[in-house]
Amino acid sequence: MDISKVLKVWYQKHHRQLPWRKINDPYKIWLSEIILQQTRVEQGLPYFNRFVSDYPTVRHLADAPEQDIMKLWQGLGYYSRARNLHAAAKMIVADYQGVFPKSFENIKSLKGIGDYTAAAIASFAYNLPHAVVDGNVYRVLARLFAIPTPIDSSEGKKDFAILAQKLLDKKDPAIHNQAIMELGALVCKPIRPDCENCPLILKCAAYNIGEVNRFPVKANRIKVTNRYFNYLMIRHKGNFYLNHRNGNDIWRNLFDLPMIETEKATTPELLVKTSGWRALFGHQLVHIEKVKIFKVHKLSHQHLHTTFYDVSMTSAPKSAIWKKFIKVKPQSIENYPIPKIIELYFQEESVAYGTMKKS
Ligand code: ADE
Repeated sequence: MDISKVLKVWYQKHHRQLPWRKINDPYKIWLSEIILQQTRVEQGLPYFNRFVSDYPTVRHLADAPEQDIMKLWQGLGYYSRARNLHAAAKMIVADYQGVFPKSFENIKSLKGIGDYTAAAIASFAYNLPHAVVDGNVYRVLARLFAIPTPIDSSEGKKDFAILAQKLLDKKDPAIHNQAIMELGALVCKPIRPDCENCPLILKCAAYNIGEVNRFPVKANRIKVTNRYFNYLMIRHKGNFYLNHRNGNDIWRNLFDLPMIETEKATTPELLVKTSGWRALFGHQLVHIEKVKIFKVHKLSHQHLHTTFYDVSMTSAPKSAIWKKFIKVKPQSIENYPIPKIIELYFQEESVAYGTMKKS
């Protein structure tokens, strides 16, 4: 049996029943694929169900306020994906009368949709012969053929795309694509792959040379920047201040707290001497009531070292910088899209739902 046939037979027997399989609505398939680029299936499922329920069609998504979409996306991270979903939905309404485009090229021209997502939508929704190449597929192919080319090199990207397309069952691209990804997710896993239960064991070059864990080969470790975020929970008369993030940094259009970023980990004594502190408070008397060295929040290229300072003020400053902040009551936090790390902090401190803990 050839590889594609083996994959198909295995898939029919072993695949998971998931709501975005067995449908061919391109809109819902698109939603599922964008969500699954961010998270694992179990975690992605409730997000998928909420999106489909709140926005059953592409028009509903296009017409929604961006802040609502961000709120629904909250917790998945990488918020530009949610912004791109919204932008692409608007493009579909404006350029295609709200009907999802049907060709690979038109699908790929939508905001936030690259080769992988376009191939997934084109094959799952329309059975068009485009091979998907995601992390699962890279791993399966790299092991199956013991390919030494790094998957994160431009040569690797090209070679793997050609190979995946060559192996694709052109008569049944939807099932073939699902099957190779499912094998990568369930059997040919990144760590502790279940080779004994792999239908391709006899054909697997890496297994036959006893080197499964050497593949796939990666060239570059991502360079990580450490950043130090000193968050201020500034309380004033039962309210506190949120910061609406803008500009080009992470979390654009989300809400966090007023923050002073420092070059390295700092202390309350040093923090009050920074220009950031002076810009916020001038010579006003403010008390740091509590310091909580919190988590290191890991993004793909950045590690955010977060510390939270509980600050109380007697009067609200009038300098221009405060115009950026929004005064809110604790119980209204749930209306704002916030990054995961802020949500975790609010949970630990019981800030949400009007139950602000006394410090
Ligand atoms: N990961 C990415 N796309 C997927 C899909 N359609 N089903 C399961 N896992 C996936």
